[in-house]
Amino acid sequence: MAKPKHILLIIGGGIAAYKAAELIRLIRKSGMTVRCVLTEAGAQFVTPMTLAALSENEVHTTLWSLKDETEMGHIQLSREADLIVICPATANLLAKMAGGIADDLATTVLLATDTQVLAVPAMNVRMWQHAATQRNIAQLRTDGIIVMHPDEGDMACGEYGPGRLPDPEAIMAEITHRLDEDRAAELPDKNELGPNPLDGQPAFAPDQHRPLHGKHVLVTAGPTHEPIDPVRYIANRSSGRQGFAIAAAAAEAGARVTLVAGPVHLPTPAGVMRIDVETAREMNQAVQGALPAHVAVMVAAVADWRADSPAEQKIKKEGAAPAPLQLTENPDILAGLARHEQRPGLLIGFAAETEKIDQHAKAKLEKKSCDWIVANDVSGPVGDSVMGGADNSVHIVTRNGSEIWERLPKTEVARRLVARIGEELANA
Ligand code: C5P
Repeated sequence: MAKPKHILLIIGGGIAAYKAAELIRLIRKSGMTVRCVLTEAGAQFVTPMTLAALSENEVHTTLWSLKDETEMGHIQLSREADLIVICPATANLLAKMAGGIADDLATTVLLATDTQVLAVPAMNVRMWQHAATQRNIAQLRTDGIIVMHPDEGDMACGEYGPGRLPDPEAIMAEITHRLDEDRAAELPDKNELGPNPLDGQPAFAPDQHRPLHGKHVLVTAGPTHEPIDPVRYIANRSSGRQGFAIAAAAAEAGARVTLVAGPVHLPTPAGVMRIDVETAREMNQAVQGALPAHVAVMVAAVADWRADSPAEQKIKKEGAAPAPLQLTENPDILAGLARHEQRPGLLIGFAAETEKIDQHAKAKLEKKSCDWIVANDVSGPVGDSVMGGADNSVHIVTRNGSEIWERLPKTEVARRLVARIGEELANA
């Protein structure tokens, strides 16, 4: 029998440290082993005793333990792990890692390791948004560290925004996904879809019906940002909610899901492989790089135009006349997929329409050579709050006709759409 995977869990000093206890429970439940390193600040929030009891392993807190350094040195600690997880990863820990500082056990292990590291940030929203933190995260990602997106919501400090620790279940899904990726990379014989299509999915009861089992579903979501200069960009009101809901529903239905997301603050649904992008061109590259896929659902509100040559420096107000803005057309990602030699078998586009919805959607279906258009009815004041709101009102337009669905929560639209996709694939 294969040796169980082993996680080294580094717990930083934040209020979210208590959730590490739940994460340990999930890691153990999945059959993996775990050993904890607790920082000095982390020990203010959770005790070594709790972690030792849950992990059934010794908890390491200091670099200066003679006993540890003879029995289990800091190098050994990192070497025995298949994955190092930092949860919560505080702004301070991330900053030290980005700067290569090693002044306690946790940071020394992190500097000494060549094992894959997954950082799960949690901090106050302003700390998360601070330029220094964002710079450090960009550096860490360049260095090959996986940095999860924090969730958005009410924070322990009373503020609202991105910075909350993702749910332990989502962290566990990410851990499984990363370990499966490693395992897939070791396999010499990959099938045509690369790694096992079930990698990273949430756990299912054996009798649960999974209509998209074994399928790869590619989803785009959110807006794109097209830079004008280093501080300004062209954007739109898309929240990404509908696309994220479809990615979540497809994963629940058993698919391997790749979600290419524009700039949005939404948590990554469990079992979904997320690729963050900013511009339409980056989105296009990520979409094409994710092929082959059985199904592609292009929900993103891609900017049709981008600034021809974004300024390298901030554009200054000069005199009375505004600086002219030259625009150039972005690639049409959906139409590009339709022409691609690896065209997904079922290609679905979205369209926001305010009138003659079926007629316009049908025309778009032909123009973009896709199989279905999901047309959002955005008539009414400010798009009737479909864009950015929680509900959606859609028509499903196919080559065989169209269906009008009643106004529904976006999560329900997603579930029904995924059920329709399942039926279509079953009949194909
Ligand atoms: O042409 P329009 O923007 O109305 O088409 C909407 C559909 O086309 C959506 O599915 C959207 O994701 C996709 N699209 C795209 N690339 C673009 C513009 C739109 O993939 N540049």
